[in-house]
Amino acid sequence: MAILRADALEFITRSADQTRRLGLRLGKQLRPGDVLALEGDLGGGKTTFVQGLAAGWGSTDAVSSPTFVVVNVYQRGDGSRLYHVDAYRLSGPAEAWDLDIPSLAEEAPLVVEWANVIAEALPSERLTVRFVWLGESQRALTFHPQGERPRALVRALRAAILRGV
Ligand SMILES: Nc1ncnc2c1ncn2[C@@H]1O[C@H](COP(=O)(O)OP(=O)(O)O)[C@@H](O)[C@H]1O
Ligand SMILES: [Mg+2]
Repeated sequence: MAILRADALEFITRSADQTRRLGLRLGKQLRPGDVLALEGDLGGGKTTFVQGLAAGWGSTDAVSSPTFVVVNVYQRGDGSRLYHVDAYRLSGPAEAWDLDIPSLAEEAPLVVEWANVIAEALPSERLTVRFVWLGESQRALTFHPQGERPRALVRALRAAILRGV
């Protein structure tokens, strides 16, 4: 059994839809300045989670893995943006600085896949989500908040799940 800090939260999801639904609930809470750092192996469910996240935030744009373009931008009716970065092909934090990735978080929520590759370039106040492959349709998602705002996000997520909304 994993030993978790009191403010961390772990879920086992049993389908891609369940992972999307978790993302949806968190996406509703997102605002500019929020940084989500997604970590875990290929096929772990990171992009699936972001599909829910973008929908919950309010965008109907199609979500895909930005492996080759590095940054996907999703928009919603009020003109605001959500940034989706895939750091898989980046060489490290220096390249993230060169691409101005850290500054994206100043104007919009920022979600980063393979965040561990560029961790030093990301704001220290962030919500890390770790994805672990347990079986064909099972994944463990663990939320590790660093800082007051990320902790509030986890509390809101926990409350939404308990209320079933
Ligand atoms: N419980 C689950 N949560 C998320 N994805 C799942 C789950 N069960 C099966 N899958 C499948 O696993 C794959 C996850 O891929 P993806 O989200 O692209 O992962 P990553 O972005 O971490 O590489 C998808 O094909 C998805 O349908
Ligand atoms: Mg992906």
